[in-house]
Amino acid sequence: MPFARKEGLKIRIRHADIERRVRAVAGQITKDFKGQRVHLIGVLKGACFFLADLAREIDLETSIDFIAVASYGKKKDSSGQVRMLKDLDNNVAGLNVILVEDILDTGLTANYLLRILRQRRPKTLSLAALLDKPSRRLKPVKGDYIGFTIPDEFVVGYGLDYAERYRNLKDVCVLQPPPQ
Ligand code: IMP
Repeated sequence: MPFARKEGLKIRIRHADIERRVRAVAGQITKDFKGQRVHLIGVLKGACFFLADLAREIDLETSIDFIAVASYGKKKDSSGQVRMLKDLDNNVAGLNVILVEDILDTGLTANYLLRILRQRRPKTLSLAALLDKPSRRLKPVKGDYIGFTIPDEFVVGYGLDYAERYRNLKDVCVLQPPPQ
């Protein structure tokens, strides 16, 4: 029996649908930045699979970098704080930066990172996320490139984890019951 089934996970988005949608999002980025270079910044660790697939479908000069953050406080209240664990390796001044997230949930992480990146004077700054849970938003963050909008349920797989588990699943699955 497949591992995900054994764990009682329910498939929410199949890998084939993810592949199709990632190709479409990459196509939109290729069109929007025609003839230019883009610089993808992945938020570790959740975005690494999405970034790897997205980057390979973008038909432009593309460079990549990674940043890591930790969240503190209860996500349910807006006092939730974000702290940087690993900064970028390279300067982003003058680049077409696309911040690549696994999921937009409360928006605290993206809000914090967009503020920091804006201060570093990129030429343009956009936000891409594989998943969007707009019903959970605490900060008014809007993605420019969104894979799928999902309801308020806890999902794992394709980079997303619960306590560091399940990141390697090809499908996005629902974890039931949701973690407290
Ligand atoms: P934020 O609440 O928008 O700041 O999201 C912060 C991070 O929480 C995301 O980048 C994910 O790593 C994690 N996260 C939010 N919702 C989920 C989920 O449903 N499954 C797994 N991780 C999640």
